[in-house]
Amino acid sequence: MTNKNKYFVANWKMNGTNKSINLHKKIIQFAKKKSLKSNIIYCPPYTLIRSFVDIFKNSKIKFGAQNCFYKDSYGPYTGQLSSKMIKESGCDYIILGHSESRAFGDNDKIINKKIISSLNNNLKVIFCFGETYKEKKDKNTNKIINKQITSALKNVKNRNNILFAYEPIWSIGTGKILNNSDLESCLFYIQKLLKSKFRIKKPIILYGGSVNSYTVKMLKNVNNIDGFLIGSASLNVNKFIDIIKKTYT
Ligand code: 13P
Repeated sequence: MTNKNKYFVANWKMNGTNKSINLHKKIIQFAKKKSLKSNIIYCPPYTLIRSFVDIFKNSKIKFGAQNCFYKDSYGPYTGQLSSKMIKESGCDYIILGHSESRAFGDNDKIINKKIISSLNNNLKVIFCFGETYKEKKDKNTNKIINKQITSALKNVKNRNNILFAYEPIWSIGTGKILNNSDLESCLFYIQKLLKSKFRIKKPIILYGGSVNSYTVKMLKNVNNIDGFLIGSASLNVNKFIDIIKKTYT
């Protein structure tokens, strides 16, 4: 996967303080390299987005939120943030459908509403989907992927503004990944589905789940991956940069 423009998305989950922003400043210089064909996107918690955007304003780094409320703009919804507010805060991206958000209440129908709202507010959606260990063991991976993608894309028009992030749940935070050929067949299935059923000409497909300096050496050889969604390894700027470097070597 060496010649194409790749995506590296840092999903900080519920981590990070103001101090973390300063520690990550060194990625600004790194991203300036002319030869670097990458889109680097930080998705910190809401509390850090504004400061991050201000401090990184002249850089190539983009920002995303990790979720939003399903209502479109403003209103009496205590504790919630709309996609419109997220766009206004300086984000270009939003992660939706992450298994951790699903575990706390987001279902397929709500995720679909959030996707429509986010696209309407000019955010690019990083849509996450993937199977549990049991579903994998029962050989239901493709069925689950088909179901999650189909319901996510219901009534969605501008599908080209969605990045599809395959994240097997059993792989998140465990250090376990599929072997290259199984992952390749799975990504091939996803690509075929997006092209034939949903008429997306060039789908952007990311992989997430235990991406780190070690696993990336194998993952970078898998066909059809346009980039990575990275959890814990993205919290440390040196590890994050190392993943990007290793992808291209
Ligand atoms: P880890 O990289 O920590 O396994 O997390 C993956 C993830 O959930 C990214 O969204």
